[in-house]
Amino acid sequence: MGDRSATGGYDPSGIDIDAWEKLELQLEETIPNYDRVNRLMTFGQDKNWRRNVRNHASSGMKVLEVGCGPGSFAEDLVGLDVTCLDPSSEMLKVAKVRVDGARQSRGEEPAKYVEAIAESIPLEDNTFDMVFCLFSFRDFQDKKKGLSEIYRVLKPGGRLIICDAGKANWFHGLGGRIWMATVVQWIARYVTKKKNHPWKGLANTYTQYGTNGYYRNMMKDVGFQDVQGRLLWPFLMATRFRATKPKSE
Ligand SMILES: C[S@@+](CC[C@H](N)C(=O)[O-])C[C@H]1O[C@@H](n2cnc3c(N)ncnc32)[C@H](O)[C@@H]1O
Repeated sequence: MGDRSATGGYDPSGIDIDAWEKLELQLEETIPNYDRVNRLMTFGQDKNWRRNVRNHASSGMKVLEVGCGPGSFAEDLVGLDVTCLDPSSEMLKVAKVRVDGARQSRGEEPAKYVEAIAESIPLEDNTFDMVFCLFSFRDFQDKKKGLSEIYRVLKPGGRLIICDAGKANWFHGLGGRIWMATVVQWIARYVTKKKNHPWKGLANTYTQYGTNGYYRNMMKDVGFQDVQGRLLWPFLMATRFRATKPKSE
């Protein structure tokens, strides 16, 4: 995926390795302000989106969060056997403190932590009842490979739930790009008190991100069934995808 010139720099299927390594550094730089900027740029909706996704799991399930970041989602997964995966050791360090701290206060066993990318998950086939990806799918180097790996580690009948910035079509994407290039930049500058904050680069992942229809088709190509993906109300900023690994292949 080195050459994106044929699409004018737009490659919804992935990110080349140099750009991805730079992106990882920018994501690590967001850690101290991550939750605050998210809250402000989504009018507090990120909390509702996380709850919406969390509510898909039922007690006792074995779940994996791919791209757990600093643990903003995983810390509130209650009554579940949780594995957190992220390629960044910095993110995992923060997540471990947050997630295990919350689990300990609820009398739960610590979560498991895996330092890896979605495209190469060092875990057994048919392991998880559910896989979550919150605001990390957009950052995968190779989205189809990541989806295939998630499919492999899901149990037959298991479900994938993705929540990420929404792009229904080109026109909606244009609105999102304007939002990312203006309001998000002002908020990040206000919170970080820095002119050169990491959200400057992070806006690119939205520019290069594909539409909901594009990823629904990709999920079907990988083998998922009952694939759905729709914008979440009230602001239509995020999309939630749901897809199921068939019970028998
Ligand atoms: C914006 S954070 C999301 C954090 C968290 N899931 C949340 O709910 O806010 C994105 C995370 O995805 C991770 N990531 C980036 N590329 C990835 C890949 N190829 N596979 C898995 N995770 C990846 C980053 O390291 C980062 O921690």
